[in-house]
Amino acid sequence: MSKRSRDLPRRSCLSVPGSSERFLQKGPTIQADMTFLDLEDSVAPLEKVEARNKVVDAIKNLDWGDRVLCVRVNAWDTIWTYGDVIDVVSGSGERLDEIMMPKVQTASDVVAMDLLLTQIEKNAGLPVGHIGIEAQIETALGLINVEEICAASPRLETIVFGPADFAASMEMPVLTGGVQISDYPGDHFHYVFNKILMAGRANGLQVIDGPFLKIKELDLLRDYCMRTRTLGYDGKWALHPDQVTLINEIYSPTQEQFDKAWAIIDAYKQATESDRKGAVMFGDEMIDEASRKMAMKFISRGERAGLKRSN
Ligand code: GLV
Ligand code: MG
Repeated sequence: MSKRSRDLPRRSCLSVPGSSERFLQKGPTIQADMTFLDLEDSVAPLEKVEARNKVVDAIKNLDWGDRVLCVRVNAWDTIWTYGDVIDVVSGSGERLDEIMMPKVQTASDVVAMDLLLTQIEKNAGLPVGHIGIEAQIETALGLINVEEICAASPRLETIVFGPADFAASMEMPVLTGGVQISDYPGDHFHYVFNKILMAGRANGLQVIDGPFLKIKELDLLRDYCMRTRTLGYDGKWALHPDQVTLINEIYSPTQEQFDKAWAIIDAYKQATESDRKGAVMFGDEMIDEASRKMAMKFISRGERAGLKRSN
């Protein structure tokens, strides 16, 4: 795992097509927590090989600040994966934090990537284990195996849902992946979101929701983000700068929640350490050790988002 990036925030994860010099140049100016330079589905087959050089150039020559920097390679069932990984990891140096694997189907897909990365790191003089892995779950088989996938390698940093490919894999009768299906009485992805979240959390991974394809519909994006934010996801992909701002806001705690979390910590400390009580009233609610754990999550997320406690 990349020690640098493992615990950095990933509220907004911006996709940048690796074949477009214009978009690559623009990438660093967009305030996303994480950015991935894509060699997979946003790059045409005839551009795939040339895009590797463009991506390496962008990693080496542009200033990406301290955000998480990742490259999405092509899946193992294509002809490009090993070439993508060898060229990008050997060429990019230490600034590259992670490789994102699309369409991960089994734990052995991740193990194979881990082994390949170790060889490349040794040959390129990188610290062994430097490159982290983000794994996308976006097929029926990948979802069935998500628990083993999340435990497959210490390099894993995140597990990511891919709604568009997943809808295709499941043969859902939709033409836009990831949006609500109004005919369905409930949320057709509820089970999927929870299954991925549980597998990720059980293995200490960040859990990320994928793209929302209706770029101009920011109100719909807000509704959509609330679904995974409410469940506990860490962040969501962005395909456009306007989506980044909104996603950063939604996946951060509010100032009110952050202050309340700190107040719970103070009250609980007083109760346990001075008054020797395990459970105590906080306003009109009872708090105990579980409340402390919940509050700490808001605090660590708020701190990652740059919040400070109000006076
Ligand atoms: C992302 O890759 C998706 O398929 O939704
Ligand atoms: Mg996909």
